[in-house]
Amino acid sequence: LPDDEARSEGTLGWLHSIARSHVEIAFRHPIKLIANALGSPPVDVIEQAHQAGVPVAALAGSAKHALRHADNGVDIVIAQGHEAGGHTGEIGSMVLWPEICDALAARGGGTAVLAAGGIGTGRQVAAALAVGASGVWMGSAFLTAAEYDLGVRTEEGPSVIQQALLAAGSSDTVRRRIYSGKPARLLKSRWTDAWDEADAPDPLPMPLQNVLVSEAHQRMSRSTDPTAVAMPVGQIVGRMNEIRPAAEIIAELVAGFEEATRRLDTIRGN
Ligand SMILES: Cc1cc2nc3c(=O)[nH]c(=O)nc-3n(C[C@H](O)[C@H](O)[C@H](O)COP(=O)(O)O)c2cc1C
Repeated sequence: LPDDEARSEGTLGWLHSIARSHVEIAFRHPIKLIANALGSPPVDVIEQAHQAGVPVAALAGSAKHALRHADNGVDIVIAQGHEAGGHTGEIGSMVLWPEICDALAARGGGTAVLAAGGIGTGRQVAAALAVGASGVWMGSAFLTAAEYDLGVRTEEGPSVIQQALLAAGSSDTVRRRIYSGKPARLLKSRWTDAWDEADAPDPLPMPLQNVLVSEAHQRMSRSTDPTAVAMPVGQIVGRMNEIRPAAEIIAELVAGFEEATRRLDTIRGN
């Protein structure tokens, strides 16, 4: 893309009409899953996916959202707690996951649940499966994968954004409407601090807020200053302390899950 078109990409994705064109493009490829956030996917899109043999997932931050997704024909509900990176609701994962599993089971089942929000260890995967989820869905933990390539590199080593993530603790995120107009969890930075100042304006409703800030986001993504970033990430950032290949992150999740289940077996006396 020419530079100015590439720069406008971030804004366009938030518009409903553009999201539909993304769906059309997705269906031209051999996709295995289509996932939707910020509301239930339109019923006609779900039907189109099913005709193509593609299951549909949708993120839910409450049991009410989960039931609406199921009523619309969604196959997989992603129960995502408050801790998550990006757009997220108000209920913490440990309360939300069983609430959604139970609400969907009471409706008659048939909808799989993936647990999301704050997962970065195999022990948490075991907890998610223990409360009734069929699997987990993760975002933040892969931002410090060696394969993740976003932002400026000043020298050999992590990018500026990864440096910021590596330095952050689990209380270094904030949930604000400043990214898109809807509440999203972001890495705390000089950018989020500036919006927290007493004389800062209120964010605009979606999609206008992103129109307002996307050019600034693009400039920050080209900056070499790790304290000035506009980056969605969840509270699990506090455990993201080294850059590793994604395969290593997965291997550790599996090993941690096995260890957790062995520990439970020991507790049960097996
Ligand atoms: C940088 C970033 C960008 C994200 N963008 C999207 C997105 O465009 N659409 C979406 O459905 N979810 C998005 N998410 C949410 C993830 O799909 C996932 O639900 C979330 O990261 C899970 O919680 P965790 O961050 O604690 O692992 C994003 C998350 C992050 C960290």
